[in-house]
Amino acid sequence: MFVVQITPELAPLAKVGGLADVVTGLSRELELRGHSVEIILPKYDCMHYDHIWGLCKTYDDLWVPWYNGHIHCTVWFGFVHGRKCFFIEPHSPENFFNRGTIYGFNDDVLRYAFFCRAALEFLWKSGKHPDVIHCHDWQTALVPVFLYEIYQNLGLWHPRVCFTIHNFKHQGLTGDFLLNATGLHRPEYYFHHDRLLDNRIPHALNLMKGGIVYSNFVTTVSPRYAGETKDGGQGFGLEPTLHTHHYKFGGVVNGIDYDVWNPEIDPHIAAPFAVDRVDNKYLNKRALRDRLLLADNEKPIIAFVGRLDPQKGLDLVRHALFYSLNHRAQFVLLGSSPERDINSYFWELKRHLNDSPDCHIEVGFDEGLAHLIYAGADMIVVPSLFEPCGLTQLISMKYGTVPIVREVGGLADTVFDKDHAHHKALHERNGYVFRDYNNEGLESALSRAIDCYYQFPDHFRELMKNAMRYDYSWKYPGQHYLNIYDYIRNK
Ligand code: ADP
Ligand code: GLC
Repeated sequence: MFVVQITPELAPLAKVGGLADVVTGLSRELELRGHSVEIILPKYDCMHYDHIWGLCKTYDDLWVPWYNGHIHCTVWFGFVHGRKCFFIEPHSPENFFNRGTIYGFNDDVLRYAFFCRAALEFLWKSGKHPDVIHCHDWQTALVPVFLYEIYQNLGLWHPRVCFTIHNFKHQGLTGDFLLNATGLHRPEYYFHHDRLLDNRIPHALNLMKGGIVYSNFVTTVSPRYAGETKDGGQGFGLEPTLHTHHYKFGGVVNGIDYDVWNPEIDPHIAAPFAVDRVDNKYLNKRALRDRLLLADNEKPIIAFVGRLDPQKGLDLVRHALFYSLNHRAQFVLLGSSPERDINSYFWELKRHLNDSPDCHIEVGFDEGLAHLIYAGADMIVVPSLFEPCGLTQLISMKYGTVPIVREVGGLADTVFDKDHAHHKALHERNGYVFRDYNNEGLESALSRAIDCYYQFPDHFRELMKNAMRYDYSWKYPGQHYLNIYDYIRNK
């Protein structure tokens, strides 16, 4: 099968969050199974170009319709860790993708609408015939819309579309200028409840809704989150659309790329380890302490790694930090936010706490440090308000770092409480889980984890090993996506 991934992010060169890891990991799995994969993304000036091998111009004459004219694009080709990637570079006066960061601009909707149109125009003009196009999040939601409304009558070109929603919070809302820009000319047709009209805001177009309506299949990144978005109030207004299209909507838990996230071969960590050589994990704990100037004592290290976004439960992260410091534990936080206020808040916290021998806060994005934290910490907290899937708990488990998570979304689907998951055998329990989004809820899990660490070290070690034995690779989700691709191809 020939699959084209159209994506705004790709690890490790253009990564904001887990979406980037997912596209890389899934693509690799599909290739391992003998399928052909190509990836299309914008050519950002801020990409880490050292991860691209053999970058060269491959198509210099792409003219993409835009308003009443065209924008000239160059398409570049290169390998990213063996994957074939095409990078779209528009020579637009607005410098669509040369802005120093990936997201965060007033015209994000227009920039990505253009990218969708350019990606399809490139596929069409270069004579590619993918069996399936797999799109990710609102940024690429217009691909199935354009495909159906503009390209479907052009010869025998019928790629099927799978649309994966990584987060319902960001949907891409916009006004009628989008239609003028993209050549979707009949406003009364698109401003329709059955198409792109937002379910809540009159006169607004909702790109994610368009993606759901026009795709052949829609997934989100865990079954629990699929239920929460359709029936549990987490759909941010898209609930009726999910109900109408329920027959083509489902949840697939993400995998982790064990070529990248694997303590046996990870070049970023101090000492390799595995479930049968778990003692070496403590060399990484020492290396982490050395790097962050933490005291060498008997305390567990509890960590948080993630975007500093309200979604991640920032007030509970803060509470976890102080609770840990007051209960004989060390705390390490690595995170960043595009919002200046949130970053300043954590900078301020850092200023207050970094003299403490038991705490380190790092505001910024640091891939290498993230690896060392997963390897060297004893526990990780993920107290999210909502969490479509979550990769940090999956990565942590591979590194024997016990997850303490809130029972939502993908966290609930992947972490099973040591003391309360009665539907699981003891050896299948792999962490601590709490339900209520408040300090008491968090403490109910965090206190049990710290107690177990001190009072029953053998039990804690078993829990670490249980977590490490889980297979959260792309093996199962890869097969699941292939089943979906087959299903939509044959429909
Ligand atoms: P989300 O996609 O909502 O941000 P996920 O848990 O799915 O959350 O994925 C987060 C990914 O980004 C993980 O690979 C995590 O290690 C990484 N990450 C998040 N913040 C940072 C940071 N500040 N430095 C390095 N890696 C980070
Ligand atoms: C989103 C979600 C996160 C998920 C990731 C990859 O950013 O917030 O829960 O793991 O996408 O699917």
